Amino acid sequence: MFNEVKSAMQKPTRKYTYREVDESEVISALEDLFVIRPQTLRNICKHFVDELTLGLKEDGHTLKMIPSYVANRPTGKETGSYLALDLGGTNFRVCEVYLEGDSKVRLTQKKFSIPDYAKCGQSDVLFDFLAESVLAFITENNIPTESDIPLGFTFSFPVKQTAIDKGYLINWTKGFDCKDTINKDVVELLNEALARKNVKVHVSALVNDTVGTLMSHAYNDPGTMVGVILGTGTNAAYVEKVSAIPKWEGGPVESGEMIINCEWGAFDNERVVLPFNKYDQMMDEGSNNKGEQTFEKMISGLYLGEIVRQVIVELIQRRVLFGGISSPEIETPYKFETAYMSRIERDHTSDLIDTKMVLQELLNIPYPAPRDRRIVRRICELVGTRAARLAAVGVAAVVTKMNRVDSGCTVAIDGSVYEHYPHFANRMKDALHELLGMFEENVSLQLGKDGSSVGAGVIAALA
Ligand code: GLC
Repeated sequence: MFNEVKSAMQKPTRKYTYREVDESEVISALEDLFVIRPQTLRNICKHFVDELTLGLKEDGHTLKMIPSYVANRPTGKETGSYLALDLGGTNFRVCEVYLEGDSKVRLTQKKFSIPDYAKCGQSDVLFDFLAESVLAFITENNIPTESDIPLGFTFSFPVKQTAIDKGYLINWTKGFDCKDTINKDVVELLNEALARKNVKVHVSALVNDTVGTLMSHAYNDPGTMVGVILGTGTNAAYVEKVSAIPKWEGGPVESGEMIINCEWGAFDNERVVLPFNKYDQMMDEGSNNKGEQTFEKMISGLYLGEIVRQVIVELIQRRVLFGGISSPEIETPYKFETAYMSRIERDHTSDLIDTKMVLQELLNIPYPAPRDRRIVRRICELVGTRAARLAAVGVAAVVTKMNRVDSGCTVAIDGSVYEHYPHFANRMKDALHELLGMFEENVSLQLGKDGSSVGAGVIAALA
């Protein structure tokens, strides 16, 4: 493949055979692959609701529908100071969460980036890194540890929870791959690492980021029934009736409610309803969890840029873009970041100057002609819009499953894609309207910033 690609430094010459395919022809072929029509949205949604129901019946289905052992929603009156450790996105955070008791929260936090060797090596290396970061945070902020402070551990991967402070990793997602963590209790692994470093805190709650987002938003909006993450990965949690969870074996629950972590990223791993196209397949082939997290791969920040890159590379190979001239950067997997898509979609200049900068300066494409820039921008729009519409299907399915279409509810959403990707929220709302008609107004999408960390504090307070 690489032999066919012309070097970045080579200028196109007259002799060079550049097939200037009509711009609208290129775009309409891409639209056929990426646009999801309203009827398809509705079909996907129907299947989604069935899958949500199935996952509650017994283990072993595509949607894991994991009971979180969080059975009470906050009143907003909870008080106290808690530590939170948030692992699961691009960054890892250690925080001190102060619940002030009148629905107000203060947060002190420090972000760490996780080195690749810790993401894919031995478990101990990762957990030692986490424990060291907690130690650094406590020391820097002079946090007294005599009282053995409770810590809420937001661990945003599929775990089989057996108690509020116990959970066994089922599989890694989002590029993590420490083989020896599978089937281990991640709370025990963290406690052991904390003990190795002599850090006097104890893990009192294990939390998924979606559950944290729901709980943190519910601390000041009691109408919050759903928590969604649209960031590096994607997932949702919602409030379910215990009587609707046939597989629940944890005994009577006073509130009659249980927050369920859907692990919706795995939706349609069978690939029967999602329009997973050839570019998605190429991206999937190159991922370290091929065949898994199908829904997540079409929606979340880790993958969107890579799908765009796959399209661009193929168009270069067909000599439809950039006169067939490639660059080592555009040929490198994951080099086209989702943040570049945001920049390109935000470029409203008439000759797409910022798009040109991204292509030239970050991706080393020498001659992105205006026509090429317009095509690249349209690719970003198509991939970004499809992601938002699919995310909306997930929300519509969960709200339908909860029987809340009529009565409405608040959906708290956190994550870099929702927060920073231009038009994402509006595109979701448009798709929700196509799915729910006028009832779309009952579903209030709210940004739940820092929810995964604050929620860990709220849950630690309730635990
Ligand atoms: C992945 C994880 C899930 C998490 C989501 C968002 O899908 O498996 O647990 O909630 O990413 O971070």
